[in-house]
Amino acid sequence: MRKVYLDNAATTYVSSEVLAEMLPCFNTVYGNANSLHGFGREAANIVDRARDRVARAINANKSNEIYFTSGGSEADNWAIKGIAHAYANKGKHIITSAIEHHAVLDACKQLESEGFEVTYLPVDKYGLVNIADLIHAIKKTTTLISIMAVNNEVGTIQNIKAIAKTAHEYGVIFHTDGVQAIGALRIDVQDMEIDAMSMSAHKIYGPKGVGALYLKNGIRIENLISGGSQERNKRGGTTNVPAVAGFGKAIEIAVRDLSMNQQKLKAIRTYFVDKVTERIPYIQINGHPHQKIQGTVNISFEMIEGESILMLLDLEGVAVSTGSACTSQVLEPSHVLKAMKISDELAQGSIRFSFGKNITKSDVDYVVDVLEKAVNQLRSISPLTKAGRK
Ligand SMILES: Cc1ncc(COP(=O)(O)O)c(C=O)c1O
Repeated sequence: MRKVYLDNAATTYVSSEVLAEMLPCFNTVYGNANSLHGFGREAANIVDRARDRVARAINANKSNEIYFTSGGSEADNWAIKGIAHAYANKGKHIITSAIEHHAVLDACKQLESEGFEVTYLPVDKYGLVNIADLIHAIKKTTTLISIMAVNNEVGTIQNIKAIAKTAHEYGVIFHTDGVQAIGALRIDVQDMEIDAMSMSAHKIYGPKGVGALYLKNGIRIENLISGGSQERNKRGGTTNVPAVAGFGKAIEIAVRDLSMNQQKLKAIRTYFVDKVTERIPYIQINGHPHQKIQGTVNISFEMIEGESILMLLDLEGVAVSTGSACTSQVLEPSHVLKAMKISDELAQGSIRFSFGKNITKSDVDYVVDVLEKAVNQLRSISPLTKAGRK
């Protein structure tokens, strides 16, 4: 059976260049990067090189502003809780948005249970945060604003630079979840005035279970993981050298190939959306019409459930997702689509197609064929169709 993977926003395969970078770290350069002997120093050199690569990819001023973590979720949790706690004597108010990843939302919920106050900014129908709403929400006690750069479900790109500028005008620290932005957008943390940013390797053809927090020098943060002196005493735990090496390589390639990949994805996206719109009626494309990344397309199919489409596509070897992977076990409409004021019915009929760099037009042709068949089949038995609504 033909297989087409359209769930790259959930995770990607590890590219061969990345794998080649990682392999020697398993059994050749296997020292503990914190050990003082030669084996350790060799491993430490690999970690240093990876740190330099990550710093260069996002134009950090110094490599020591990069702290490796176990992924985007840890980086989000650390940034939110660590910065909130470090500045708690200044104030206990945090601002975020209603469409953040659960790693941010749940970290904020935890802070609320500790007595912090959190404002969840609304978004417009395209998923954009409004700067006037942000300004209105800022208080004397606000210490941190966290707004994601790119939404993982619909691909909308926020006005990060303007948001960061606003935060700084009011003396507030700005964190962004950059997990879906790396490789899709040029990120320059200095130009964009980002104080802290979460990153993850497995969305950019790197390994799972590794990521980083960029933290501008001078910003205080409380430790999330206590232990050894790793990551300059800020994050305990023996460094996962193969994973870190893979992440460094993956982010270097993601930035090197960004224009080429985005051009290709733009052409594929247009081809896909044109075909789907031509062949399948009663659909709605969610997200911003222009301010969006090219790789993610979120479509609501009226009168049917996204999960049923997903299962029929899976039977034909096509992998897609409903909402975000982390919540796909839950049959609640996505919190992102809800915040964008998309009806529950449409939200429940939504599918995220996220393209990878190796996708071909022939893959798209195959997907559109099986998608059309699945949608027709489901609509023919849908009680909503039978009720004569369409
Ligand atoms: C926007 C966003 N933030 C954070 C994460 C979590 O990253 P990780 O899987 O590395 O923990 C994801 C991944 O699903 C994401 O899409």
